[in-house]
Amino acid sequence: MTTDKKKHSIHTLQEMKREGKKIVWLTSYDFPTAQFAEAAGLDMLLVGDSLGMCVYGYEGTVPVTMDQCIVHSEAVRRAAPNTFVVGDMPFLSYQVSDEEAVRNAGRFLKEAGVDAVKLEGGKRVTRRIHALLDAGIVVCGHIGLTPQSSGQLGGHKAQGRTIDSARALIEDALAIEETGAQLLLLEAVPPEVAGFIARKLRIPVLSIGAGPECDGQLIIVSDLIGQFQAFTPKFVKKYCDVATTVTDAMKSYAADVRAGTFPADEHCYHMLKGEGERLPELMKEFE
Ligand code: KIV
Repeated sequence: MTTDKKKHSIHTLQEMKREGKKIVWLTSYDFPTAQFAEAAGLDMLLVGDSLGMCVYGYEGTVPVTMDQCIVHSEAVRRAAPNTFVVGDMPFLSYQVSDEEAVRNAGRFLKEAGVDAVKLEGGKRVTRRIHALLDAGIVVCGHIGLTPQSSGQLGGHKAQGRTIDSARALIEDALAIEETGAQLLLLEAVPPEVAGFIARKLRIPVLSIGAGPECDGQLIIVSDLIGQFQAFTPKFVKKYCDVATTVTDAMKSYAADVRAGTFPADEHCYHMLKGEGERLPELMKEFE
């Protein structure tokens, strides 16, 4: 599957905001799904640390390692060479020091060829963002519901629903833009607060569960295709039901095998012409 799609740069994404064109962003963790995404003409892909839940079956994102993120990012990059790919910095890959943050973000670029990295947090990560930008790395901030610190947030809860919380979010958004970060993601934020932030900032403000007024939308592919079973956040729209389709296919396969109707003749490699006739003779040798 190849496309003649032109890959975005951070400049063309920022131009889309200025022109009022919505940016379409999706998570992706593997080669085939990233191929579909590129063929579908999506603007951006995120190799999210949500792969911990969507691919590995962890309860959250905290156990995800840099090595896992790199392996999945490499596969996505190979499958979608013409799509802007963002690598998601997993827990403890940037919290400890500027040096570790730069080294790990650098791995995403050197080993997986991603176009940008995303990290969670507002004011408290601005120093890290400066360090990444100084290293020449394109950075996407992520505020609102930040799953890596869901313990501090008291669970996976929407943010910015009180005036105090909305003020803190707006201050965080302004602080991120002030660093020079090129993109910002808002997760699980009221649309009225998200819309205000999107209008206030010059950089593209993307939404996952932050309403329609942002400059683009992100969704987790496993939710979009109905593959992730553990829970479905309010902001998810399911566009197909892969879980049912695949389970039904597996049940049909099992039924066919048990009934002896699979494999059929068309699924068999017969002996070459002129060879099959000699098989009885060969069999006799082994009697
Ligand atoms: O890992 C991820 O997919 C994310 C989204 C939930 C925003 O960070």
